[in-house]
Amino acid sequence: MSYQRSIVKRLIFGSAFIFSLSFLVTIANAQDGKAIFNSKCAACHNVFKNSTGPALGGMEERGPWSDRKKLYAWIHNPAAFMANDPYTQGLKDSHNGILMTGFPDLTEGDIDAVVNYVNTTFTAGPGGGAKPAAGETAAPEPKSDDTLLFGVLTLILAVIALTLLQVNSNLKKMTDDKEGIPASEPVPFYRNKLYIALGIIVLFLVGGYYTIQGAIGLGRHQGYEPEQPIFYSHKVHAGINQISCLYCHGGAQEGKSANIPAVNVCMNCHMGINEYTKGPQLFRPDGSEVNGTAEIQKLYSYAGWDPDKKQYTGKGKPIEWERIHNLPDHVYFNHSQHVVVGQQQCQTCHGNITEMDEVQQFADLSMGWCVNCHRNTKVQFTDNKFYSIYEKFHEDIRNKKIDSVTVEMIGGIECQKCHY
Ligand code: HEC
Ligand code: HEC
Ligand code: HEC
Ligand code: HEC
Ligand code: HEC
Ligand code: HEC
Repeated sequence: MSYQRSIVKRLIFGSAFIFSLSFLVTIANAQDGKAIFNSKCAACHNVFKNSTGPALGGMEERGPWSDRKKLYAWIHNPAAFMANDPYTQGLKDSHNGILMTGFPDLTEGDIDAVVNYVNTTFTAGPGGGAKPAAGETAAPEPKSDDTLLFGVLTLILAVIALTLLQVNSNLKKMTDDKEGIPASEPVPFYRNKLYIALGIIVLFLVGGYYTIQGAIGLGRHQGYEPEQPIFYSHKVHAGINQISCLYCHGGAQEGKSANIPAVNVCMNCHMGINEYTKGPQLFRPDGSEVNGTAEIQKLYSYAGWDPDKKQYTGKGKPIEWERIHNLPDHVYFNHSQHVVVGQQQCQTCHGNITEMDEVQQFADLSMGWCVNCHRNTKVQFTDNKFYSIYEKFHEDIRNKKIDSVTVEMIGGIECQKCHY
């Protein structure tokens, strides 16, 4: 009798535990989907409207995507998939010939999570759930928020589990007493060797995990968005007013650094434009309103410009912009190599800048990020004099031994190419 009862108890306890775990996994999955979407897809895709790529909402009703296997294949390697799929060939033509980047490092579970996130967001509609306008800006969510939530949930579960174990052993003792089985000396739970061992193991795992994550993450600032001395909006300039990135960051075409424009570049236009009246109301990340005209006045005081007399006072000083992207000193990165030779878009690495007011760091700038792109990205090999020295590859292409050349094949993952 008591034997059966204890089995039942264990079953109930066990299934409650498994249920809570699977519940946690579901939340984690939806959260992951959003994070992956924001960091990998949002540069080019929006759930509701077309941007660089098509709107992803309702994608499973289009083309071959009801077959999840095909979707995996597409995301892992778009070029290979497209080679024998007329639907995506047509898509590419209607998207200015831009080929989607591949993500071979995403697992099938990751892709499922993204599809899950897209579907739930799409069903909620543009007004539903979180503000879509905020979601559109490709803002990578700071990850630590979830970590705290999971930490607390895990702790609660652990306490429940311990209490249940204690109750269980007390009940067992009672039934044993009743049936006259002599009780062994009771051990308080804090001296029970099993619990102590478990506790130490858990501490090691958790502590080790955070130490390693912390060490790797040192100096990485994905999502970093410092407050700038002037509220200068890229959305107003590069988005609404369509000023070319290269007007201010011309260095990206000429050399290593993209450069931040000097005050006189701003003044080329702002000697004339002294008010902000045409664009939308701007907001700081904390929700407070920005007075665009007052921000232009700040620009004048940096430039040393008197807007009434329309002349320079000679008392200008440079604007001390907060630097956002910053690779460690041991890494060599060159803009013109990527923008001119490699023909990469600014948005691929910097996200949808034309939708951002204050710039936010989009990519994590980790070594994995660089190397993965070099593994997957094909270089525009033909008609590019930079590559004329690679005779063997040209010959292989002519003989149809290979159909394309990746950055990796021209040495893009050799340590010394990126490290001094
Ligand atoms: C660099 C820009 C870019 C990124 C990043 C990107 N895509 Fe795409 N995607 C495109 C383009 C462009 C197309 C249209 C086909 C083409 O031209 O290659 C496309 C097409 C698609 C399609 C087919 C849509 C349809 O209407 O049939 C799906 C699905 C898709 N992408 C999913 C994703 C997912 C998921 C991610 C993130 C893991 C992602 N894409 C990241 C640019 C991108
Ligand atoms: C009218 C001038 C202007 C134009 C046009 C412009 N920018 Fe900027 N950009 C700036 C200034 C000023 C800063 C420094 C202040 C800041 O970070 O917001 C900056 C900062 C940045 C940064 C962050 C730099 C850092 O500190 O790491 C990136 C990335 C960037 N711009 C990319 C772009 C891209 C991509 C475009 C085109 C879509 C563009 N910018 C168009 C003026 C401009
Ligand atoms: C090619 C012309 C041009 C250049 C260069 C330019 N701006 Fe502007 N700026 C504009 C226009 C157009 C507006 C919008 C005016 C309106 O909508 O009423 C604007 C608006 C602004 C505003 C108010 C809106 C906001 O973003 O907060 C500020 C501040 C500003 N500019 C600062 C700068 C700074 C700083 C620079 C140099 C890094 C700069 N601008 C370079 C054309 C320019
Ligand atoms: C292949 C990825 C990639 C592409 C494409 C790219 N950038 Fe960058 N960008 C970076 C990295 C990485 C850094 C950090 C560089 C550093 O810290 O030395 C950076 C830094 C910057 C900065 C800060 C100042 C500097 O030069 O360090 C600006 C501004 C900028 N990029 C603008 C642009 C613009 C504009 C374009 C398009 C014309 C562009 N970037 C294209 C990866 C890229
Ligand atoms: C979006 C894709 C992408 C990302 C991200 C990227 N690269 Fe590249 N990279 C390219 C392409 C395309 C080329 C080919 C251009 C060429 O042949 O020089 C290239 C070439 C290079 C080269 C020259 C390789 C050679 O053999 O000539 C170096 C060095 C390099 N990248 C460094 C970096 C570093 C460092 C990072 C990360 C901070 C990075 N790249 C991130 C696409 C990328
Ligand atoms: C495509 C560019 C690229 C190549 C190729 C590359 N690295 Fe890196 N490496 C980076 C970047 C970017 C970082 C900075 C990562 C960060 O700050 O998180 C880095 C960081 C490192 C670090 C410091 C530890 C860390 O993660 O911050 C070591 C060690 C390192 N690389 C070794 C190597 C070795 C060994 C190779 C050759 C097998 C290599 N790298 C090839 C771009 C590259």
